[in-house]
Amino acid sequence: MSTTQAITARELVLDAEDRFVAAGLVFGHGTDNARDEAVHLVFHVLEFPFDVSDAMLDRVVSEVRRTAVEAIIAARITSRRPAAYLTGRMWFAGYEFQVDERILIPRSPIAELIIAAFSPWLEADELFRILEIGTGSGCIAIATAFAAPNAVVDATDLSGDALALAALNRERYPAVSKRVQLFEADLFPPTDDRYDLIITNPPYVPSAVVAGLPPEYAHEPVMALDAGPDGLSVVRRILAQAPDRLCGGGALIVDIGTMAAAIDEEFPAVNFTWIDLNDGGEGIGIAYKRDFHA
Ligand SMILES: C[S@@+](CC[C@H](N)C(=O)[O-])C[C@H]1O[C@@H](n2cnc3c(N)ncnc32)[C@H](O)[C@@H]1O
Repeated sequence: MSTTQAITARELVLDAEDRFVAAGLVFGHGTDNARDEAVHLVFHVLEFPFDVSDAMLDRVVSEVRRTAVEAIIAARITSRRPAAYLTGRMWFAGYEFQVDERILIPRSPIAELIIAAFSPWLEADELFRILEIGTGSGCIAIATAFAAPNAVVDATDLSGDALALAALNRERYPAVSKRVQLFEADLFPPTDDRYDLIITNPPYVPSAVVAGLPPEYAHEPVMALDAGPDGLSVVRRILAQAPDRLCGGGALIVDIGTMAAAIDEEFPAVNFTWIDLNDGGEGIGIAYKRDFHA
């Protein structure tokens, strides 16, 4: 594309989309196609809202902004960093979070349950103690605190770096910040507390699969993805301890991606219900305390 002719925002998006496809980029960090990835980057630089008008899209972009768009599009192609790491922002369950390479980019389909305030699976008003295991950016813990207005949410991570960013994200939301507690811990906080809800999107990718993932995934912390030879090393430990950490009517909600069948096979004593999501995604399961059989 010539650098001298006038160009609109719409044309910048279409041009970026073509270049992303030609470069063979891989999407899966909040977008699943080249057009949406281009929109994320171009709109970020132009400071457009997602519901930008056609008139704005068809306005000619200034030379300065055009240069900035070119820089971020080129960086996406050459560095293979996902768009969210280039912009430093991602949305989850309707809330914006700061993101960087310390944390996995928020994208869990668990967002659909949070947006629905866990209906019909749980009564959000009756959730008083919630634990999120492996909080990363803090997105699930913070969005859950909004969905469950009476709950104190404990959130753990083994990564101190991730928790530092989760703390920044918690500060963005003073309406819930006092109800979200962060713990550097291996799965469970160092207390005997029991929870009405334990929610987790743990690492679940087998090590050999992690090694072969497209370059975009190499920018994410390996400990957010890698769960040992069979992908079950973290969830196996969660399932062993969960029944003792759930209140009588409590429930465990997991995002285990492609590993649902493997879980059913290895843990026949845990009667998970795998939830059909309207927005797509797989491996979101719920098991109430009564669904754990000895
Ligand atoms: C798949 S990421 C999920 C991040 C975030 N909850 C989300 O859904 O976007 C898994 C997270 O679990 C953390 N993690 C891995 N092993 C852990 C462990 N043994 N105890 C606590 N957190 C752990 C990782 O550091 C990472 O932040």
